[in-house]
Amino acid sequence: MAFHCRTEAAKFLGVGIGIFCTLLAFSFAELERVKHPIKKDGSLSFLVIGDWGRSGSYNQSEVAFQMGRIGEQLDIDFVISTGDNFYEDGLKSVSDPLFKDSFSKVYTAQSLQKPWYSILGNHDYRGNVGAQLSPELRKIDSRWFCRRSFILKSDIAEFFFVDTTPFVDDYFYDPEHIYHWKGVMPRTSYLTSLLRDLEKALRESNAKWKIVVGHHAIRSAGHHGDTRELIQLLLPMMKANNVDMYMNGHDHCLEHITSHDSSIQYLTSGGGSKAWRGDVKHYNRLTTKFFYDGQGFMSVKLSEENAHILFYDVFGNTLHEWRLTNELLSDM
Ligand SMILES: *[C@@H]1O[C@H](CO)[C@@H](O)[C@H](O)[C@H]1NC(C)=O
Repeated sequence: MAFHCRTEAAKFLGVGIGIFCTLLAFSFAELERVKHPIKKDGSLSFLVIGDWGRSGSYNQSEVAFQMGRIGEQLDIDFVISTGDNFYEDGLKSVSDPLFKDSFSKVYTAQSLQKPWYSILGNHDYRGNVGAQLSPELRKIDSRWFCRRSFILKSDIAEFFFVDTTPFVDDYFYDPEHIYHWKGVMPRTSYLTSLLRDLEKALRESNAKWKIVVGHHAIRSAGHHGDTRELIQLLLPMMKANNVDMYMNGHDHCLEHITSHDSSIQYLTSGGGSKAWRGDVKHYNRLTTKFFYDGQGFMSVKLSEENAHILFYDVFGNTLHEWRLTNELLSDM
């Protein structure tokens, strides 16, 4: 659409309209779409990990080892990273050794040599954002795929990756850290256009499973707790468009939270390295199905009818398990 608009219109109607069309195309084609095939049996399996890059320390390597083992068992199709990919301050440049030390040299198992669909966390915004988004990194490790926001499409599920850091007011008034907002300013237009594109994509999606992925939690019992701005701006359109799951990191723990006002499952997988914070603040006995303060990760297996979600600790033990039936199908 964008391509057609730019070339054809410019050719026949002059450059002025071409530029106008380019501007239009920009404001309507913000969300890049990526396709991933499902397995022959119609299923899709993946791991979810967040808050990890610490050159193997704080049990990052131990978690990575178990991810490799479980990844092989499930024959995973890809890995999702919920952000805070490189500590403490993202990457300095595309040649920052941290990329290899915290990613390539840590997640070495054969089963993990799959695409890593990644978004940015608040710590990544303290570094060179452009470096993490750069195609140059794929020359170093072809698994790496990182965007601010994008849509991953497969035949049974659609994943809406959302750049949540610019939503959070606190980072814009944080005197202790520098965040690199180039590409995000002016903030209001960035958020408005992101929300508009997202709402449209959610509305038009006819995927069996709709999954939204962000760095910050919408619901969390852990240290940071719920994210007010996401409850206000993102959650209403998720509810209105039958989103099944929201996956995030940020709190360095593993969580499964439900709610009374929708069927959305809130899943935190932020146990990629440093954990054991020891401050469970907002534990609600009725909605918190599972909370674990230590390191670990999550696996998801989707078929058209069912979702099977598991959480693992640093030894690969299953901590929590949950099965969902597709509501769209059971309604029929
Ligand atoms: C690594 O994991 C073990 C087992 O959960 C835990 O006892 C230990 O404290 C962890 N180490 C760190 C640095 O978090």
